Amino acid sequence: MDTATSTSTMLLYAALLVAAAFIYAAFIRGRKRGLPPGPMGLPVVGSLLSLDPDLHTYFAGLAAKYGPIFSIRLGSKLGIVVSSPALVREVLRDNDLLFANRDVPDAARAITYGGDKDIVWNSVGPTWRMLRRVCVQEMLSPTGLEAMHGLRRREFRATLAHLHAAAMAGEPVEVGAQMFLTTLNVLTSTMWGGNVGTESERTVVGKEFRQLVSEITQMLGAPNVSDFFPALAPFDLQGIWRKSDALKARFDNIFARIIQQRVRTEEAGGKTPVDFLECMLKMEKEGGDGKAPFTMTNIKAMLMDMVVGGTETTSNTVEWAMAEMMKNRRILRKAREELDAVVGVDSVVEESHLPQLHYLHQVLKETLRLHPAVPLLVPHCPRADTTLAGHRVPAGTRVFINAWAIMRDPTTWSDPTEFVPERFEGRKVDFTGGELDYVPFGSGRRICAGIPMAERMMAYSLAMLLQAFDWELLPDHRLDLTEKFGIVMKKATPLVVVPTPRLSRAELYSAK
Ligand code: HEM
Repeated sequence: MDTATSTSTMLLYAALLVAAAFIYAAFIRGRKRGLPPGPMGLPVVGSLLSLDPDLHTYFAGLAAKYGPIFSIRLGSKLGIVVSSPALVREVLRDNDLLFANRDVPDAARAITYGGDKDIVWNSVGPTWRMLRRVCVQEMLSPTGLEAMHGLRRREFRATLAHLHAAAMAGEPVEVGAQMFLTTLNVLTSTMWGGNVGTESERTVVGKEFRQLVSEITQMLGAPNVSDFFPALAPFDLQGIWRKSDALKARFDNIFARIIQQRVRTEEAGGKTPVDFLECMLKMEKEGGDGKAPFTMTNIKAMLMDMVVGGTETTSNTVEWAMAEMMKNRRILRKAREELDAVVGVDSVVEESHLPQLHYLHQVLKETLRLHPAVPLLVPHCPRADTTLAGHRVPAGTRVFINAWAIMRDPTTWSDPTEFVPERFEGRKVDFTGGELDYVPFGSGRRICAGIPMAERMMAYSLAMLLQAFDWELLPDHRLDLTEKFGIVMKKATPLVVVPTPRLSRAELYSAK
């Protein structure tokens, strides 16, 4: 080839390349037409390569650049992120039903028996309605919870005794682990009557469950190729199905044992307690509510929802509250003064004291504002093409609500990064999602189903920790308040503290 020919060939290739780039840009512009603004991203992968694992802060950074609604393409998946109360109103109030579906991640499909058997990941329809009704009416209603008051007391007393033993031995305590165990025991005994056994079994089983739940929530929050390129899902490139099969098998073993034991007792004509499991088994026998079938798989998927959705969320929040108060002793002292006035040190805090602990509730509200356990809520998904703030939102888009950013917005919250429980004094804001600048549990029909349980558990836990013990950091321990993102957010490093008893008599710590 002479020089002239090779030059013209090169020019031709260059021209083709430029033309291809223009066509691609036009194609992307076409696809993006009408969508909310957002990063352009690369061909095929979109913004995948720049994705930061701490999605809540990464999305907050993009919102600062593109505004309170932006779009982001991750592979072939379109995401839209909203970060203002006005937009939350549009999604969770004005168009609640339209946005009430889920775009089920591959990992959730794998772990929850298909994604259409449980509450959290089901789209709105007869099955979701039936499951949610069973759960909210039978287990998590204020009346249902009142009936289980004795079980909670028993578990809290067991924790109190355990912490006292640690205190007497001068052993440090991992607050999150202890609170996880307490929550797990309360939840399991509410669901199927039994707790996880003797003191040593309790520690072993609790540890295993905590590990399981942590692996599951991490898997649910981690980026997965199968979600970004659904055509590749059958190849399970990251081995999510393999991993979740193993995790599920461990859960299945526990659940199957409990269910079989109950069924056997029933068949033998034995007396069975009237608990959540009993109510679910009755529904299974009846085959559903006439509108949707109810099977053994639904039972297992619901139990999974409760254990995964209810444990880490609650215990991480208590851990954060304690960590913030270890940093700010003024707040700790004030919460304790209230406890001393309401309960004193001659008796142990009871659930009946909780409604009088106003400051303690402000501490919890502030904890969930600054460190929401589910920082992006569970993503929503519109069932049909629609618009938001005038922007196009195609059906099937994954809609993230950045509750973390909304609750740190300086235009709504003064000194938003400061931990100031007093900001809630006299402010009529609760967990029911009525005020859209405060949505730690979401809002609308998909709002958390476990609020009454979570509220009691968090307040009871924190009250017990503060009233019964003084807490000190280990001498060489630096208090770290770094967050680690996951569908359930946690502290990057566990809070480890040393308890000293402060109740007037040692007998008060006995497990009775
Ligand atoms: C501090 C504790 C907790 C927090 C911060 C929390 C937060 C949340 C959030 C943000 C959602 C998603 C809302 C949405 O999709 O917009 C949710 C859903 C859910 N939560 Fe909780 N949760 C907590 C404790 C619990 C407990 C104790 C239970 C049950 C024992 C529970 C059961 C559920 C269920 C079943 C759903 C799915 C609701 C649905 O999709 O219809 N949660 N939670």
